[in-house]
Amino acid sequence: MPELDFAIRGGTVVNASDRFRADIGVKDGRIVQIAETVADAREEFDASGRLVLPGGVDGHVHLAQPTSDGTVMADDFETGTRAATAGGNTTILPFALQEKGKSLRQCVSDYHEKANGNCYIDVSFHLIVSDPTPQVLGQELPALVRDGYTSFKVFMTYDDLMLTDSQLLEVFEVARRERALVMVHAEGHDAIKHMTRKLEESGRTAPYYHGIAHSSIAEREATHRAISHAELTDIPIVIVHVSGRDPMEQIQWARRRGLKVFAETCPQYIALTMEDLKGLNMDFEGAKYVCSPPPRDRENQEAIWEGIRDGTFDIFSSDHAPFKYEGENGTGKDNPNARTSFKLVPNGIPGIETRLPILFSEGVSRGRISLERFVALTSTNPAKLFGLYPKKGSIMIGADADFAIWDPDREVTITQSALHHGSDYTPYEGMEVKGWPVATILRGRTVMRDGDIVGEKTFGSHLSRTTSDM
Ligand code: URP
Ligand code: ZN
Ligand code: ZN
Repeated sequence: MPELDFAIRGGTVVNASDRFRADIGVKDGRIVQIAETVADAREEFDASGRLVLPGGVDGHVHLAQPTSDGTVMADDFETGTRAATAGGNTTILPFALQEKGKSLRQCVSDYHEKANGNCYIDVSFHLIVSDPTPQVLGQELPALVRDGYTSFKVFMTYDDLMLTDSQLLEVFEVARRERALVMVHAEGHDAIKHMTRKLEESGRTAPYYHGIAHSSIAEREATHRAISHAELTDIPIVIVHVSGRDPMEQIQWARRRGLKVFAETCPQYIALTMEDLKGLNMDFEGAKYVCSPPPRDRENQEAIWEGIRDGTFDIFSSDHAPFKYEGENGTGKDNPNARTSFKLVPNGIPGIETRLPILFSEGVSRGRISLERFVALTSTNPAKLFGLYPKKGSIMIGADADFAIWDPDREVTITQSALHHGSDYTPYEGMEVKGWPVATILRGRTVMRDGDIVGEKTFGSHLSRTTSDM
């Protein structure tokens, strides 16, 4: 009988700190050997000429989430985790969203119901707190954090989700007591509303104007306010989906003051610009790029690259929030809600499958960042930040045997027909990338090979988490 269940041979192993040539041996789903040559295994994977990376950990994903106008998200857990698998990920962190008026505990149970038996890879829920009632603040949230839901998101905009400043402060106090990590959607609601009203009054309602209404001034102001509230209550926070220089400067300022402020950015802020929101000719095609904060301009893309390089950003997540474009449930012109104004287009774009290839190609292949930094941003740091490390996020003895086997030379033109998500488009259509995952391995089982999903939707588990390790 072979000693090992699974072995990877001949690849270059890359961690956040170093890279080296080694074979890897797996037993019972965990890494048990890393050596020049490992023992015989029941199943072998030849990784010669390939990179062996820790499986991608996507720290910011929306699946099967209810929306304010009833538009159904294009991905449930089955299609969302399938697409994530195809993109080299082995763990994702979707949000269990509390709808106003509902119990947070009940929402978490509902999400488990949706996810159970429908996950190709591992998942772990963040919470979204939208209704911080005394019951939520005093009982449900503390109990959920103790049960391993150690991070939650709060919104400073969106009518149906936003918290007032005093609610933010109350929620932050719970985070401090329970040692939970708060993720903040930092955009100033009143400034957005003000701009939206002015734009609509002057007939500027095309999707492009979403980008004007959601200004970087509103993002900067809210980032500063979130940081101030975090300083006052003495908690670490994560500013999510940072779009450009203005909010980055606030984060850098906070860190100079010694505050624990973490930052996330996403593919849309390096691969799209506001010009994309124009669509073909200021038409509704622009709805395919409506997300918040919106993509900015080239100068801001450069600023984001600076931040990716210099450590301003800790994690690079997809913020996958998928909708269909066509049809009555789509975000495009056929949807009776969306047609009249950018304001009515549900916010969010798909990107779970293309997150790793886009950063690899634009970052590593173009020489902007090292392989090690790529691994840190996309796997090790999200695992540490959200309490999944050392089980996830690194190739080391005892860790889960989760890998993305990467072909650094493979050239791919991103196109909708080759993707596995539930959306009917990709905002990155036609983008040429160099570097692509050729296999995904979850706890020693191959779940994707050459673009084919070969695992099953029962392979993934929900992971309970400890408090942050950063
Ligand atoms: O536009 C976005 N980002 N939609 C998803 C929800 C959120 O705010 O992250
Ligand atoms: Zn958000
Ligand atoms: Zn999001």
